[in-house]
Amino acid sequence: MVKMEKSERLKQIPPYLFAEINRKIAAAKRACVDVISLGIGDPDLPTPQPVVEALNRAANDPRNHRYPDYEGMPSFREAVSKWYKRRHNVRLDPDKEVLTLIGSKEGSLHLSLALINPGDAALVPEPAYTTYMTSTILAGGIPYRMALKEENDFLPRLSEVPEDVAARAKIIYVNYPNNPTAAVAAKGFYRELVDFAKDNDVIVCSDNPYSEIGFDGYRPLSFLEVSGAKDVGIELNSLSKPYSMTGWRIAMAVGNPEIIRAMALVKSNVDSGVFNAVQHAGIAALNLPDSVIDANVKVYQQRRDVLCNALEQVGLKVKKPKASLYLWVKVPEGYSSESFAAEVLDKAGVVITPGSAYGGAGQGFFRVSLTVPDARLNEAVERIKKSVKI
Ligand code: MLT
Repeated sequence: MVKMEKSERLKQIPPYLFAEINRKIAAAKRACVDVISLGIGDPDLPTPQPVVEALNRAANDPRNHRYPDYEGMPSFREAVSKWYKRRHNVRLDPDKEVLTLIGSKEGSLHLSLALINPGDAALVPEPAYTTYMTSTILAGGIPYRMALKEENDFLPRLSEVPEDVAARAKIIYVNYPNNPTAAVAAKGFYRELVDFAKDNDVIVCSDNPYSEIGFDGYRPLSFLEVSGAKDVGIELNSLSKPYSMTGWRIAMAVGNPEIIRAMALVKSNVDSGVFNAVQHAGIAALNLPDSVIDANVKVYQQRRDVLCNALEQVGLKVKKPKASLYLWVKVPEGYSSESFAAEVLDKAGVVITPGSAYGGAGQGFFRVSLTVPDARLNEAVERIKKSVKI
């Protein structure tokens, strides 16, 4: 047996959060527990039927069986451009300002590989989706954590980034509607971000997969809606959440053409693009009437209300989010994030995500997702009430 030693880069990377959680779910299921998972934000609503039919048709066409274009089919990129105009009033040149991705997770790594030199810094929020930190490390960079605090509405304080760190930073990541805190950003924050990026020569990466999931009439913004944004950055977005397509693996990077070109250069050397039939299905999704998104959002809004009410009834204080697929809730007195999540799984058979899994600044919170039906949400809270001391 040869000696296998992980690279120094990989040694710094913990196991992927939801891979670990899946292992725990599998173990509980083996022990015949009827697990209710409020863990991953993986929509349970089905992909719209016209999208499935578009895939079927395209899969039967042998022209789609060959290598796809590296940067994505022109017609998919055109559909993305029209969608951004329709949904966010953002103009994008489909040839230069849109790149088809397998997912925004992949996009984040390819962005880091395109821009980061060993020792460069990337400004990453904390708590945050772990990918921003790990893709920085995989590219040889050093993540600088910007704490997202409740008293600042879970927005980073850009004025508090030390000057020497800002000078070494190549990328700043933001993500609103936010995962895991469900916070949202207003135009004023994005304007400040554009100024910060220009003053410090830092590229903005706005990861925006929840851009369409806004409640009570609230419409989340695209970072590209503010003037000057395209000069300083890109946005990653995805069909996963608005069209219930997490399993299909189709997403996009949009914005600054030079950054898009650099990412495309990395990608063409690493992967060979998205199956054309999936891109045809993606076009069908993007061209669906907006009422399809509205109907999904209505379901999530109703679940948000059901879950907020149920959690409050067991004595947990919840701030109703305006957007995203998550509730971000303080753990009860006497627990850490980890001990509460462990007890809820062991005693109630319910999976919640410990806030600390999103970085130390998430300690004291847990995250629950709205991707299970009302009856199971109510049952989850009922089981927690009966078996866990709050
Ligand atoms: C989450 O639950 O945080 C997301 O669904 C994970 C992902 O988008 O990869």
